[in-house]
Amino acid sequence: MVQLTALVALSLNALLASSASLAARKDSKTHGVTCGCDLKKSTTVSMHLPTNQTALVQPTTPPRYVAIGVGYQNYTCNSATSTFASIGAVATLFDLSCIEGKSDFETIAQRSYNVWISPAEGHAKADVVGAKVGTPSILGYHYFINSPTTAGAINAKWDFTSTGSHKGDATAFVVGAKVGNIPAPAPADPKVTVDWLMLNGIPGFDALASQVFRVDTVGGQPPASCAAGAAPIQVKYVAKYFLY
Ligand SMILES: *[C@@H]1O[C@H](CO)[C@@H](O)[C@H](O)[C@H]1NC(C)=O
Ligand SMILES: *[C@@H]1O[C@H](CO)[C@@H](O)[C@H](O)[C@H]1NC(C)=O
Repeated sequence: MVQLTALVALSLNALLASSASLAARKDSKTHGVTCGCDLKKSTTVSMHLPTNQTALVQPTTPPRYVAIGVGYQNYTCNSATSTFASIGAVATLFDLSCIEGKSDFETIAQRSYNVWISPAEGHAKADVVGAKVGTPSILGYHYFINSPTTAGAINAKWDFTSTGSHKGDATAFVVGAKVGNIPAPAPADPKVTVDWLMLNGIPGFDALASQVFRVDTVGGQPPASCAAGAAPIQVKYVAKYFLY
């Protein structure tokens, strides 16, 4: 009898587990998640915002996507001030949904950066870095476009239209406008490492996400000054992007 009860409990558990995974899969499909891993159950705590600031506000819902971006911050020399000014960035976005909440997730930005700047990697493209740190699946690309709302300005775009399960879905992108930033918190050096950011999706250009955070940044800052007439530069960086 005891054995029978155990057996019934076991098969009930199996049934519950399989219906739970079915529900998760259905949900993933609804949300178009590339990787099989469901972020809906994740709490928002995997994005560790400093508590001593109000510029970046922790959302109360789980993220739709979490990616590691590997690429370049680009700068041009402003001859008047002899300082570099940002002219955008370009990065490959690797899906982190399957390691979210695990210890690997906490170290992935630094590990990716180490690979990205390693001389041994030579001229390796950003696209291959994910595979070298255990997160090979490309969600999409991050780059800048002429602002759809402000003439002469540029805006950041996260574009999933050409990769993964969104391939061919022309609406799978978000264009963001920056609404908050903080210097990269300790132990990062904000002179070397770019700010953490909060961006809102621009209405009409926000089908993929309504809010984007850039956190856990490594690298990307230009030298403190430049000589007038110096050529544009590209500085390697890595960041985690949370899309809500
Ligand atoms: C930024 O630099 C990368 C790497 O050199 C380049 O592919 C990209 O076109 C540049 N983008 C801009 C806006 O300068
Ligand atoms: C807030 O805390 C971070 C470390 O988490 C530190 O790097 C930063 O300097 C602090 N900011 C202020 C304004 O005190």
